[in-house]
Amino acid sequence: MNILVIGSGGREHALAWQCAKDDNVQQVYIAPGNAGTALEPKCQNVILETATSDSDHSPVIKFCQNNAIDMVIVGPEAPLVTGIIDACRDAGVRAWGPTAYCAQLEGSKTFAKEFMAENNIPTAAYQGFTDAASAKAYISEQGAPIVIKADGLAAGKGVIVAETVEQAYVAIDDMLADNKFGDAGSRVVIEQFLRGEEASFICMIDGENILPMATSQDHKRAFEGDTGPNTGGMGAYSPAPVVTPKIHDKVMAQVIQPVVDAMKAAGHPYTGFLYAGLMIDESGNPFVIEFNCRFGDPETQPILMRLQSSMVDLVNKGLAGQLPIQANWDARPALGIVIASKGYPETSSKGDVISGLPALDKQSSNTNDNHSSEAVKVFHAGTTFAHGKGTDNLNADAISDNVKEIITNGGRVVCVTALADTILDAQQAALTVTGAISFEGAQYRRDIGHHAIARDPS
Ligand code: AMP
Ligand code: GLY
Repeated sequence: MNILVIGSGGREHALAWQCAKDDNVQQVYIAPGNAGTALEPKCQNVILETATSDSDHSPVIKFCQNNAIDMVIVGPEAPLVTGIIDACRDAGVRAWGPTAYCAQLEGSKTFAKEFMAENNIPTAAYQGFTDAASAKAYISEQGAPIVIKADGLAAGKGVIVAETVEQAYVAIDDMLADNKFGDAGSRVVIEQFLRGEEASFICMIDGENILPMATSQDHKRAFEGDTGPNTGGMGAYSPAPVVTPKIHDKVMAQVIQPVVDAMKAAGHPYTGFLYAGLMIDESGNPFVIEFNCRFGDPETQPILMRLQSSMVDLVNKGLAGQLPIQANWDARPALGIVIASKGYPETSSKGDVISGLPALDKQSSNTNDNHSSEAVKVFHAGTTFAHGKGTDNLNADAISDNVKEIITNGGRVVCVTALADTILDAQQAALTVTGAISFEGAQYRRDIGHHAIARDPS
């Protein structure tokens, strides 16, 4: 089989790596990929033809038709929201993900909140606004802390948790008056501040059957102690002990099943990954903070380190409407630490030489055979090759001779992911490799997994 993975982050590196492990897979193409995917065995980066607009998915379809692609796995939300799955289906290309209708769960906060209200899915109380004066009146009535969200996609940056009413006003001015978030912020959702512990609950859904992935938790704040600005995620681990079996059942019954039922009833069966970002309150009740229509980044990296089933097999079954309700998981925890570039998340620096990356052959090629010791895998995100070569159309064979240096390409650069007997061991193993990797302005957190470590009696 030949597979096409769309995207360029750590999530896509992990997906490509998982797919390449399947003996039935000949070639995994990644569009556009990064230095890590280019170096992965059986993987090749590709640059697709330029699309005429965000909703033009013909370059993907053309590539699939010309390269005998059996399956497309879409990593990021943007192409899903603009209908890549619909376009592929119309062209007879097998692609895994939700249709544009279903992807509105992530693409529009207003759609998601209305959908949750209609289907009794627990979430924070909210109101939507397009006008700054009414938004501010609502804020002064509700008081702080309060949460302001841009309606549209804002790359994880459109959410402001305001500690004071004044901060909330500034967020409203930024979004509604000064248009700092562009169209994404021309409408806002203002919601009640939820207290508790967060968890990521990600499933595969084939329209009807639900396969929950192992649970996970990410660390969205930039700095240690979960402080500083929100980011796309500075690290993650799996499983998340906060999701006890009882809470797992509640999430399935109160959150995931209602989505599947309601989408089916609306004539738009949900297919693909569904990510519910949850707040679990003190009494063990889950509330949905957000839905994403894709796998999480960096959650994918530790989750897929633990997956013993073949992702290709699961997606194949999902595309056939025959998704199993359980997959096989390594019982050991996995933990990933993101190393981000200087200035992330406000700014992003590129072109710094990265040293200390472990050679690919020293990393775990098949973590599942390696039960006695910990395994570490460095998933790349914002990386490319030096000397202006980029990573276009590269694979490991083409690179071995002429590529010596890997440089940063902005944002989150790599995610060092370790699998070990305990969560603390996984953290320490990941930290050891993380500490050896260096580039100008590299930043990472040493406390990824602290909630789980505090709960672990071992
Ligand atoms: P989102 O992009 O919607 O996931 O929001 C980013 C982060 O903001 C979440 O992971 C939470 O940490 C925080 N957040 C969002 N909504 C709320 C809320 N209603 N109450 C408390 N924290 C929130
Ligand atoms: N890690 C959060 C996300 O993927 O949105």
